Amino acid sequence: MSAAVSVSLRPAAPTAGAVLDIDLSAVGANTRRFAALTPALLAVVKADGYGLGATQIARTALSHGAIGLGVTSLAEALALRADGLTAPILSWLNPVDGDFAAGLAAGVHLAVGSIEHLDAVCRAARRTGRVASVHLAVDCGMARDGSPPLAWPALCARAGQAQQSGLVDVVGVMGQLSHAGRPRHAASQRGRAVFDWAVTTAAGHGLAPEHRHLATTAACLTDPRSRHTMSRVGAGLVGVDPSSTTLLAQVVTLRAPVVAVRDVVAGTGVGYGHTWRAKRATRLVTVPVGYADGIPRGAAGRAEVSVGGHRCPVVGGVNMDQTVIDVGRLEIELGEPVVVLGGEGPTLVEWAEWAQTLPHEILTGLGGRVARRYSGVSRDQR
Ligand SMILES: Cc1ncc(COP(=O)(O)O)c(C=O)c1O
Repeated sequence: MSAAVSVSLRPAAPTAGAVLDIDLSAVGANTRRFAALTPALLAVVKADGYGLGATQIARTALSHGAIGLGVTSLAEALALRADGLTAPILSWLNPVDGDFAAGLAAGVHLAVGSIEHLDAVCRAARRTGRVASVHLAVDCGMARDGSPPLAWPALCARAGQAQQSGLVDVVGVMGQLSHAGRPRHAASQRGRAVFDWAVTTAAGHGLAPEHRHLATTAACLTDPRSRHTMSRVGAGLVGVDPSSTTLLAQVVTLRAPVVAVRDVVAGTGVGYGHTWRAKRATRLVTVPVGYADGIPRGAAGRAEVSVGGHRCPVVGGVNMDQTVIDVGRLEIELGEPVVVLGGEGPTLVEWAEWAQTLPHEILTGLGGRVARRYSGVSRDQR
C-alpha cells in the first residue's frame, strides 16, 4: 500500500522562497588571506562572481586588498564599469571580433593570446586613439587558451612592434597551470618553466611587463614559486579551495522554506517513477528548489539537508522545482527553513561529491530564482 495518510498544505505566513545568504565579511576574510600570500591580488569575478554577484564580490575584494579585477568577457568587464567600478579590470577571453574599442574606451586591460587578437586590439587602438593595456597570454600546458609556446616568440615580436608604435602597452604576461595545487607534479614543473621562458622571451623583445601572473587559487595556496608579481584568485574568495589544503571562510548558506508536510505509511512511493519508497511510516517535507535552481539532480540518493538542526536525506529524486526530504519523526512546520547548503547544512564540497562535480559548478549553477541576500560590509566603491 502506498497512500499518504495525512497531507498538510495549509499556507503558513508568506515565505520568500529560497534565499541564498552571502556573507561578504567571509569574502573579505578570504581576500585578506590571499592578499597576504601574494605580492598583488587580482580578484576574479567572472561568471557573475561565481554565481554570487560580480559587483558585490568585486567591491568587497577591492576593499580587502585586491588591486584589480579579472573577468573572461568584455561584457562582464563593461557590466562592472556600468555598476560604477573604476578599479583596473582584465578581460581574458574574447572572440577575435570582440568590441575591443568599447573595452579600451572603458579602460579595460585585454589579454591577448594570438597575433590575430593582437592585430584586432591594435586596430581598435588606432580607431579610438587609445593605447591598449595588454597582457600577453601563454599556454603553460592546458592547451586551452593563450599562445602555444611555438607561437610565442612571434607574438612577442609583434607586440614589441605594436608597443614601439604606441598602440599597446604590454603590462602583463599571464599563464595558468593545469595541475595547480600539485606543485611537484611534472606538469606544474613544466608549466612554471614555460612561464619563466615566456617572460624571458618577452624581455628579449623589449617587453618588461609589471604584472607576471600564473597562479590561481590552488597554486597561490600551495606553490609560492607560481605567485610571481600577482595571483588571479576567484574560487578562494568565495570559500572554495580546489587544492583541498586550506580551510577558507564559508560564504554561502542556501535556505528554502518547507511548502508541504505529509505523513506517509510504509511503502509510499515518492516522486516520478517512485524511485524511493518509505521503508516505514515517516514524515516527508517538500522544499521549493530543484535542478532549475541549481540543486544537482545527480546528487539524488546521496544528498542530505539540514531540517530543524538534523541531517535528513533527500528522497525520490531532485525535480525541476521541488525536492522531498524524509524527516522521520521530526515535528516540522510549514514555512520552516531547511538549510540546503552551508551553515549547519551540507558543505559545498559535500554537494559536489554527491553530484560528482566541483564546488565551482554547484555555486555557479545556483539559479536566478534563488534570491540573493547580502550581509557583511563592502566599503570600497571604486
Ligand atoms: C585564466 C583564469 N585565471 C584565473 C582563474 C581563477 O581560478 P580560481 O577560481 O581557481 O582561482 C580562472 C578560472 O578558471 C581562469 O580561467
